[in-house]
Amino acid sequence: MAEPRHFITGEELTGDELRALVGRAEQLRSTGSSRTALPLRGRSVALIFEKPSTRTRVSLEVGVSQLGGHPVVLRGDELQLTRGESVRDTAMVLSRYVALIAVRSGDHEAVVELAEFSSAPVINALTPLHHPCQALADLLTLQQRFGMVKGLRLAYVGDGNNVCNSLMLLGAAAGVQVAVATPPELRPDEAIVARAGSSVELGDDPLAAAAGAHALYTDVWVSMGDEGDAAKRRKLLAPYQLNSELLTAARDDAIVLHCLPAHPGEEITEDLLYGDRSAVWDQAENRLHAQKALLELLVA
Ligand code: CP
Repeated sequence: MAEPRHFITGEELTGDELRALVGRAEQLRSTGSSRTALPLRGRSVALIFEKPSTRTRVSLEVGVSQLGGHPVVLRGDELQLTRGESVRDTAMVLSRYVALIAVRSGDHEAVVELAEFSSAPVINALTPLHHPCQALADLLTLQQRFGMVKGLRLAYVGDGNNVCNSLMLLGAAAGVQVAVATPPELRPDEAIVARAGSSVELGDDPLAAAAGAHALYTDVWVSMGDEGDAAKRRKLLAPYQLNSELLTAARDDAIVLHCLPAHPGEEITEDLLYGDRSAVWDQAENRLHAQKALLELLVA
């Protein structure tokens, strides 16, 4: 039996495959669900969510359904994992029932282990280190707004978190120049920066990152698991707010991105989130189209 193809960090896809996937997602977005092929007809997909989720969970569930499959949504506490069953055994059993497993977990290494022992493809639906499904939707939003992704400049300002890591890796692979500005204390993972390569610029000046950018991007200041440091993070990140001053430094046609959920008045101002330069709501919709293209690719 062929080895399953996983999507754990996004580095599993070449730049050409990534751009082709974005192109397919663009087709799916423009044709709508009624004209979609049904590669999951008669098959089931396990969606394991050990952490809260609105966009990822619903878009995956709807996406599986639109591709003809049956989504089996599982909260972490519904599985025997919470009573000591190993990740290995869970992977070996679930992958005998389903065509694919998507998992959101607080433990990145557990997702890597799940993939190691699963005979079905595994999709990372967010870990503390990576959020590659989000980056697919982000690339699709750039494609939708600018007609291409290669050669664009995207500025990410704020916390050097999992969303930032995935933007660097997938953005760089797709040919996007990713300029990152974070407080020195909240820089992204060094090994991931090194893997992303020379098309990533790393600094601590949000205005320098935003200069000439096609897109400005931010994420929440207090991610899941960081609640204990909330006050310290808000103080460190205050100079990194996505606001009109930052937008002025970008191109005249620059768009505003945010992976959501947002906290207007903290990491982004309300006028930018809801204003006419915001592509945030298309970006959220694009989770569905991008993940359908990914599902198609992995179960082919
Ligand atoms: N952006 C994102 O992953 O949203 P959810 O946490 O709601 O899935």
